[in-house]
Amino acid sequence: MPPSPPRTPLLPRPTKARFKAGQFTLDSDTRLRVTPGAEPAAQLLRTLLAPATGLPLPPAADGQVVLALDTALTGLGGEGYGLTIGPRSVLLRARTVTGLLRGVQTVRQLLPVQALSASPRHGVPWTLPCADITDVPRLPWRGAMLDVARHFQPLSYLLRYVDLLALHKINVFHLHLTDDQGWRMPVAAYPKLTEIGGHRSRSMTGPTGDRYDGTPHGGAYTRAELVRLVDHAAARGITVMPEIEMPGHARAAVAAYPHLGNRPERTLDVWTRWGVCDTTLGVHEEVFDFCRTVLEEVMDVFPSPYLHIGGDECPTTEWERSPAARARAREAGLPGPAALHGWFLGRVGTFLTRQGRRPVGWAETGTELPEDFTVMAWRDPAHALEAARRGHDVINSHHRATYLDYPRSAGPDEPPGQPGGVVGLRDVHGHDPVPGAASPEAAARVLGTQAHLWTEYAATPARIEYLTYPRLCALADRSWSGPTTWTDFSSRLAGHTARLDALEVSRHP
Ligand code: ACM
Repeated sequence: MPPSPPRTPLLPRPTKARFKAGQFTLDSDTRLRVTPGAEPAAQLLRTLLAPATGLPLPPAADGQVVLALDTALTGLGGEGYGLTIGPRSVLLRARTVTGLLRGVQTVRQLLPVQALSASPRHGVPWTLPCADITDVPRLPWRGAMLDVARHFQPLSYLLRYVDLLALHKINVFHLHLTDDQGWRMPVAAYPKLTEIGGHRSRSMTGPTGDRYDGTPHGGAYTRAELVRLVDHAAARGITVMPEIEMPGHARAAVAAYPHLGNRPERTLDVWTRWGVCDTTLGVHEEVFDFCRTVLEEVMDVFPSPYLHIGGDECPTTEWERSPAARARAREAGLPGPAALHGWFLGRVGTFLTRQGRRPVGWAETGTELPEDFTVMAWRDPAHALEAARRGHDVINSHHRATYLDYPRSAGPDEPPGQPGGVVGLRDVHGHDPVPGAASPEAAARVLGTQAHLWTEYAATPARIEYLTYPRLCALADRSWSGPTTWTDFSSRLAGHTARLDALEVSRHP
């Protein structure tokens, strides 16, 4: 019998896969042999397969499916795995638990697509094609950002969002928790951040003009919910990186605590407009006390080594007009109030570094962030290269290739999205996170890439998924598998969409 290809090709594409004749069938007699330390992978496999298959997959010393953690394995790095499927046994091996978790997602993709269903599917033989797979990601940072500040989403949706990331071997969930239009994380010492800052009276209905929907919008997570999210993601090998925006995009915080702003006598609303807001945090000592207290709570909840503190789109007009801010710039020996931006981020970044965390910031130019920052380059591909040359670690996420809030086409049927651009599936697939002009040293500084979904125009889970899929599949493929041809990617995607449909993803057609 000739080797049978898998029924739907894998996405992302594994480094090496050889399919062979024959298959292994999971049934009610299948047992798992789990080596010490590999239990989280067994748990994830059971959790993922139970709803559709009902298979108990109990442990047994002579189990046919072996999940083996072997710290002596070489060549697989921190996330790679090897998977051997024969007619009588399955062996999943990795050097790390994370590698095993990635392999579990591959097993899941190799099963009939009904295995992804949320409800019981009877009468389906749960077969895996015989295969030898060795799979190691090309890049260590494969992220997705969701903005829950512009439109709040309940925890239940974030858990599903993480599940979908895990299927695609995305490993960083960047959670944009605060912005001008809403503050979503509770901080015990500053309860008004969510009580006041978590609610706005209405929202603009378009990108410009003065039209509003008249509907209040609000929401905030509890600390317990955020802890649950972190645990849920960790069980899938995903790090949740929180973002607390400063010193701009902070209007909700200033609305809650006017003394944090540049004009303490002024009471502002949580912003109801979209765009770049002039309101920024002040630069007096109480503001740094505030930032430290907030970030201490953030560090308590989020074990992520990386913490994002924003830094983008920060107008300096309020500082220029404020005698206190101008005096602060002079005292700090800065050339002027505009330099307070880098100075501010540097102070907060140093605080995080001393706590053993790594600050991440948005790059506005590629050269303005303090040394110890990991740079998220979004405006211009040249910024990613400049930052890498300066010695920053870089996440290269050029907006023209990774911002999923832009519509996928300019066609008349496309629902309105972020104005000013189109990001097609081919644009995402064509984005090489490692700039072609990078020297080997600079290329080594590029950790990876990320998709971003700002939610001014994406209020519901259905809209979020429509914008995210299948474009995120392209980013996942590119960052895990490296360059693949369009023909190869699009033919695998055609099969993969059956998985998205089984998961009831409301994807772009
Ligand atoms: C950004 O899009 N303002 C980072």
